[in-house]
Amino acid sequence: MDKPTSNFHFKFMSFGYKFRDFFLPRKNILKEVGVKPGFHVLDYGCGPGGYIIAAAEFVGKSGKIYALDIHPLAIQMVQSIASKKATDECGNHLFRLQNWITR
Ligand SMILES: C[S@@+](CC[C@H](N)C(=O)[O-])C[C@H]1O[C@@H](n2cnc3c(N)ncnc32)[C@H](O)[C@@H]1O
Repeated sequence: MDKPTSNFHFKFMSFGYKFRDFFLPRKNILKEVGVKPGFHVLDYGCGPGGYIIAAAEFVGKSGKIYALDIHPLAIQMVQSIASKKATDECGNHLFRLQNWITR
């Protein structure tokens, strides 16, 4: 796809992913994939950012997560997650989520 979907479609998809991520946590997928401490991960087509917290926890302080999406709402959502999580329970390593590739 070379154009972002409508905002309505993106929000609807994001709402659906909340249920998916609740019943099928993304950390299980990342464990299966074998993401390890120190990895640099590019979440290409990150959407609302369902993978990024779990990914940041897996890669730890020595790793890095990049999130890329064509949709501006995705970037807003991911930046919001990063700024909230950077200041609370997840601590240092989530500051690295500020290093976004935004387009
Ligand atoms: C099906 S959603 C998956 C979202 C996320 N990976 C997840 O599973 O929670 C696909 C995402 O890819 C993005 N996308 C589609 N084409 C893209 C492109 N050419 N470059 C970057 N992102 C793209 C869409 O905006 C959408 O957020």
